[in-house]
Amino acid sequence: MSNRAGAADAWDGERIVTRFDAEAETWMFVAIHSTRLGPAAGGTRLAQYPDRDAARRDVQRLSAGMTDKWAVAGFPCGGGKAVLATPRDLRPPEREGLLRRYGALVAELAGAFTTGPDLGTSSADMDVVAETGAPYVFGRSRERGGVGGSGGWTALGVFVSMEVVCRRLFGTPSLARRSVLVQGVGGVGRPLLERLAAAGAQVRFSESDAERARVIAEQTGVESVAPGAVLESACDVFVPCAFGGVLHEESITRLRCRAVVGAANNQLAAAEDSIRLATRGILYAPDFVVNAGGAIAVTGMEAMGWTPDRAEREVRGIGATLERVLALADSAGIDPDSAARRLARERLAAAEPRLA
Ligand code: PHE
Repeated sequence: MSNRAGAADAWDGERIVTRFDAEAETWMFVAIHSTRLGPAAGGTRLAQYPDRDAARRDVQRLSAGMTDKWAVAGFPCGGGKAVLATPRDLRPPEREGLLRRYGALVAELAGAFTTGPDLGTSSADMDVVAETGAPYVFGRSRERGGVGGSGGWTALGVFVSMEVVCRRLFGTPSLARRSVLVQGVGGVGRPLLERLAAAGAQVRFSESDAERARVIAEQTGVESVAPGAVLESACDVFVPCAFGGVLHEESITRLRCRAVVGAANNQLAAAEDSIRLATRGILYAPDFVVNAGGAIAVTGMEAMGWTPDRAEREVRGIGATLERVLALADSAGIDPDSAARRLARERLAAAEPRLA
């Protein structure tokens, strides 16, 4: 089973709901990859794509990633994802209209798919989606009865994963004085940057939006690196928190880090890239293991009645999960990504098939 780039046409999911929203000229896709562990859940991504097929492939890959993410985390949800492929930056009223019509689509699915924020969408967007899509929309703002965005929780899970990796590499989990490079300072990268700075890491960041980079450097005092210089920048830990596919045959040869631990979904362009990293002596913490914090915390608190304390304990538990994955990789003599997928497959195989 491969969920990777290029293999997406062999998608092994359950169903895709496709709708063209003529008003905003936007293709809407909801992909339900697997309901074996529970109803499908996953974020809503809003982005521009080269064409409709690229958006469809992305939603397929991302929904398959959610199946593995929930399975490895031991969470009773199935894999799903939504992509809203917009033709251009939409004006606020256009965008809100689109989000409301998308919410109606989520409501039509009547609980087969629940959603939250993802790349390109925020808690404020979830408020709008929920106007028509409630009660299937999580991560709304506190003012609207939600628990707020998921980015800070995702950042916490990535941070504890970095501690696990540091203990393995350097004998101590502390991030103090470790050099860390965060690629992308959006909803996850930004809170992560602050957590790392507070822990005494020597942190730097890159950001493709130059104005945003300038503002964040000014606000945090953290140094920024030109986006084109990221791969070659020497650091202990490289932290992809922007787009997927950053780790591929060519980029891996340029990396000058000891480990990759980041929040971006689908960081590996192909499954073999996890082996390529291992061959170069770079410890790779599988993205779908370490970036589950937002999904776990927000869904746990809004759908399962968790307290914030419980959510924090569960998100910190990602550290132990990562340790298990890395131990399995060692004992089985396989790369970390294969180990994490093996764990996910075992959980899926052990589950009773759910009757609708
Ligand atoms: N963006 C989250 C992820 O990729 C998905 C998510 C967030 C799902 C919040 C539910 C609630 O893991």
